[in-house]
Amino acid sequence: MIETDAAPKKTTPYVAVASPETIQQAARLLQAGKLVAIPTETVYGLAANARDGMAVARIFSAKQRPQFNPLIIHAADKNALQDDVVFSEEADVIAQHFWPGPLTLILPRKNTSTISDLASAGLPTLAVRVPDHPVAQQLLRACVVPLAAPSANRSGTVSPTAPHHVIESLGSAVDMVLAAGSCRIGLESTVLDLSGHTPIILRAGAITAEDIESVIGRAVSYELTPSDAPKSPGQLLRHYATSIPVRLNAVDVAPDEALLSFGSTRFMGIKGGGHVKSFSADQHKNLSEQGDLCEAAANLFGYLRALDQPHYKAIAIMNIPETGIGIAINERLKRAAASNEN
Ligand code: TXA
Ligand code: MG
Repeated sequence: MIETDAAPKKTTPYVAVASPETIQQAARLLQAGKLVAIPTETVYGLAANARDGMAVARIFSAKQRPQFNPLIIHAADKNALQDDVVFSEEADVIAQHFWPGPLTLILPRKNTSTISDLASAGLPTLAVRVPDHPVAQQLLRACVVPLAAPSANRSGTVSPTAPHHVIESLGSAVDMVLAAGSCRIGLESTVLDLSGHTPIILRAGAITAEDIESVIGRAVSYELTPSDAPKSPGQLLRHYATSIPVRLNAVDVAPDEALLSFGSTRFMGIKGGGHVKSFSADQHKNLSEQGDLCEAAANLFGYLRALDQPHYKAIAIMNIPETGIGIAINERLKRAAASNEN
């Protein structure tokens, strides 16, 4: 028996490559109240039956996550959520256009919903998403129940984009890891709050305000800065913390720093002399040599983990353009920098 209530241990959980058989196995474990790490197109999620309060409680325990931070509820399609949330006409249009996909909608929760209150932290709204990943889709259909699934990492640390990240971060606190390679997008979903008068993005992701505006024909604003009373409780927390500091908008690098570059490094010098070409692959990773922001997003968390070595003083990070998914990349990097100050 695996003790899921125990603190995460550095022992290996049961890891299975996704196949029709292992997907069925994962579905049975989830129905029995267990925790399964699952692949999605954004990041790996730590899933539990969203209608089982005990199972949801285990997520918080495994992640060591503050209980007031609510979870995203995943379903195979919009129909599976009809009894849980209210879709306005606009929410319908948005869901129709972007689901399945990397977009989470905050919608009013129905009184009749049997989603665990712990999953939504007692809020009158629910965060819901239909993931665009064949394994997640097959699993959700096999489970029948919706799955609560935050990112499958210890609270506050970098999100997992590959199975070995999950194993390193959570160990045997998870009952099974359903492995399906690296995540296509590599950044968590855009969180769009549709519970008020105007649509507000609470977390930037691959789908931008412009993308949504072009579908609904009205303005969508960003509200990403932490405030005293954040709408998205996750905004208050330590996030994406690396163990060594990160230094943003670096135009050069110290000999004892690691470098996370983007695009051409032709003009990146080493302080005191030399060029970063002399750095080993351990000390320097390029998010995208071509300057492709989607490739950069997919590489971001894996490369941050790889460079987060105690023998470097900091991770120097080159400027990332604030456009498209670059907005989401910069949001994560700013939080990583702020976490280092805590
Ligand atoms: O891409 C993703 O969204 C991944 C994959 C696994 O689907 N999941 C994920 O979940 O990133 P998590 O729990 O790490 O992030 C959920 C975010 C948090 O910032 C939380 O505060 C916010 O969504 N959230 C959840 N319910 C909310 C609600 N009712 N109102 C406002 N924000 C909410
Ligand atoms: Mg997370």
